[in-house]
Amino acid sequence: MSAHRDALAREVNAVLDALLPEGGEMSRLYEAMRYSVLNGGKRLRAVMLLEFCELFGGDKELAMRFACALECIHAYSLIHDDLPCMDDDDMRRGKPSCHIAFGENVAVLAGDALQTFAFEQMALAAAERPSVGLEALRVAASAAGPAGMCGGQLLDLENETRRASRARLEITCRLKTGALISAACEMGAILGGADAAGRAAARKYAEGVGLAFQVMDDLLDVVGSAESFGKATGADARRGKSTFASELGREECERLIRSLTDGAAATIRDIPGSEELTALAEELARRSF
Ligand code: IPE
Ligand code: IPE
Ligand code: MG
Ligand code: MG
Ligand code: MG
Repeated sequence: MSAHRDALAREVNAVLDALLPEGGEMSRLYEAMRYSVLNGGKRLRAVMLLEFCELFGGDKELAMRFACALECIHAYSLIHDDLPCMDDDDMRRGKPSCHIAFGENVAVLAGDALQTFAFEQMALAAAERPSVGLEALRVAASAAGPAGMCGGQLLDLENETRRASRARLEITCRLKTGALISAACEMGAILGGADAAGRAAARKYAEGVGLAFQVMDDLLDVVGSAESFGKATGADARRGKSTFASELGREECERLIRSLTDGAAATIRDIPGSEELTALAEELARRSF
């Protein structure tokens, strides 16, 4: 991570820590929520949102609130993704998954609560700047919903019992992972006051980076180490899940990641100040984490 992105991620962590409730009668629920958010995520989506807002010259404080909300939605999606009825993964971010630490029932509630908490935070922020805030909120809702992340998770589940074509894998990953990443970039552009062309560039960049990111995740599930990955490897094969790694093989996955990353970089090349975002895409393409 560059020093700038590293500093943004640290700020995000501090704001999330201050924002998330604790103590009182519901302390067990709050504890599970905090455990799942404040346990060392890369803050990729938050940083992308903040970088795009900065690129187009928006108010960082407002963007920070949306960035934190998006990380809460992401954390909720991971809690539910790890449940026994979904991917059945015991490790997340190098620690026991939420349902291992708190039980399945509390984990389900922590996911639900993080999602609604995120929308409450976005509504409060949007009320202050409705001209851009409401549209950013709508983009987040659409990306997290049935035609976005949740829909992608459904396709992904079905890919355990059928062999997915490349086209099917693409749509699965564009939805389950790409949608929230696209939302992050587009929300940043919206909050930054970008015009339609700026929004489209942010979306296009994110589509390339988002798909490359999931191809890499599938590949690392096969060739990565659990220690650096922070989650068990071999999990997809264990479930017989059709993924980019199982269907295309390592070399083709690597070629695809390269061409998607180059395409993403090209979409923002002409925007002054886009170097951080180009570097971020490159880093993700070379990651071993
Ligand atoms: C993990 O996302 C889930 C996928 C979409 C592959 P990240 O790799 O961004 O997870 P954290 O937030 O850094 O743990
Ligand atoms: C996760 O995809 C996508 C989500 C919406 C959470 P994966 O199931 O591949 O993510 P990991 O490998 O568990 O992090
Ligand atoms: Mg999954
Ligand atoms: Mg999973
Ligand atoms: Mg995975």
